[in-house]
Amino acid sequence: MRIAHIASEVAPWSQTGGLADVVGSVPAALERVGGSDVECAVFSPFYRGIRQKAQACGATIESTDITVAVDLAGWRVVGRLYRLQQSDHPPVYLIDYPGFYERDGIYCSSTGADHADNHLRFAFLCRAAIEAAPRIMGGVPDVFHGHDWQAGLVPVYLRTRYPQLRSASVFTIHNLAYQGVFHKNALEQIGLDWSVFTLDRLEYHDWLSYLKGGVAYADALTTVSPSYAYEIQTPAFGHGLDIFVRSQARRVHGILNGIDTEAWDPATDSEIAANYDDDTLPEGKAACRRALADEFHLKLDEDEILLGVVSRFTGQKGLDLVADVVPDLHAMAAKLIVLGSGDLGLEDRFRYLGHVFGGNASVRIGFDVAQSRRIYSGIDAILVPSRFEPCGLSQLYAMRYGTVPIVHAVGGLRDTVHDPGDSALCRGEGTGFRFEHPTAIGLRWAIDRAARIFRDRPAGWLAIARSGMGRDFSWDQSARAYLQLYQTLRR
Ligand code: ADP
Ligand code: GLC
Repeated sequence: MRIAHIASEVAPWSQTGGLADVVGSVPAALERVGGSDVECAVFSPFYRGIRQKAQACGATIESTDITVAVDLAGWRVVGRLYRLQQSDHPPVYLIDYPGFYERDGIYCSSTGADHADNHLRFAFLCRAAIEAAPRIMGGVPDVFHGHDWQAGLVPVYLRTRYPQLRSASVFTIHNLAYQGVFHKNALEQIGLDWSVFTLDRLEYHDWLSYLKGGVAYADALTTVSPSYAYEIQTPAFGHGLDIFVRSQARRVHGILNGIDTEAWDPATDSEIAANYDDDTLPEGKAACRRALADEFHLKLDEDEILLGVVSRFTGQKGLDLVADVVPDLHAMAAKLIVLGSGDLGLEDRFRYLGHVFGGNASVRIGFDVAQSRRIYSGIDAILVPSRFEPCGLSQLYAMRYGTVPIVHAVGGLRDTVHDPGDSALCRGEGTGFRFEHPTAIGLRWAIDRAARIFRDRPAGWLAIARSGMGRDFSWDQSARAYLQLYQTLRR
């Protein structure tokens, strides 16, 4: 079975969030689990900076002799395909068209404004992938698997312009909040006709929605956790599309994300201060914790809990709640490390808090994967108070590194963090702390529970950390679920 993944980000080459991690790791997992019958490839833009990253990682980038020509907005866009090859991974085909991709910022400029031609940049990604895949892979893909709105037109084009390929399509919603909404006049520029502009297809309140196109035209829809598959069919989490998604309910599957447990392994991670496994967790983490506190200039007592945040700064993530509890950290014998970037208002607020409450909170604004690894290994607990969370990966990385998650019970956080109450937690029967309402009071309550156990019941704390560390968050099970789904669609 041949599977072409199409996405706007793929780790470690281009990334703003968890979409990249998933696209960077699921194809290899599909090949591993599916054996020689499965061939995967990823199609993604050749952004500025990828060549340097590949060189630094020892991956190769070679030009192929494949070019694709697509008519867009009245001109002929000709892109070339490059093959990025990293050992043990299926190839990533980089679509090179400097006019679209050779610029700073994947989606927006440094001022935060979206690139004005995003409708063309990502329509081209979809068309180029469909054009190139049959020529560059071993044959026509059985399945084109598009991720998020940037690949939402893949199922649309497949059905309307490439029916002769007879390929099936899967569309994964990683985040329904981003819908790729553009002026309807874009339709003519991207080579679609007005027949697709209806309420049950791409029309969204008289605008054009790429994500809605993916939902309407894909043969199967998936989301990245079972809870989120349910939630997006409700008004509270449906971002205006709940009724539409509900109308497709039979085709919606919730398949939980995994993580690359080899790339994220405290026993081998070269970025962290000390390597450790389940047996050596207490000593290893203590060393990482000390080094991290030094790195962030925090003075930390043995019985003070070190909390951390690694996150995009957006409304989704509930970081305003974290900001609200910063003044209370001292009273809870807790200290906090924050790494993140995004919303400029939140960046300013955290800079300010880091300045005023510098003894208790240390803040780094930026995106730094190496530093995130040192944080996952060095903190005692990670805060993920998201208002909604399709899956969430930071709590999974944290658990892998023996760090206890404190999460709002929503979406994938609900599905991956088990909280049976303090006593059972201390017996190693759960993996973290959940709170039901996304308020500062809810978060403070959960932090307080964690801080008390950390201080008063160290053996209980270790049991919670080990319990999370022992969970299987690898891709194996989910890769099997995807393969089963692909099989049902094969034509
Ligand atoms: P989302 O995709 O909504 O941002 P996830 O939890 O699924 O949330 O994935 C976030 C990913 O991005 C994780 O791998 C996390 O470690 C990483 N990440 C987020 N912010 C930063 C940052 N500032 N520096 C490094 N990595 C980050
Ligand atoms: C999205 C979601 C996040 C999910 C990630 C990968 O960005 O916000 O919850 O883990 O995609 O699927």
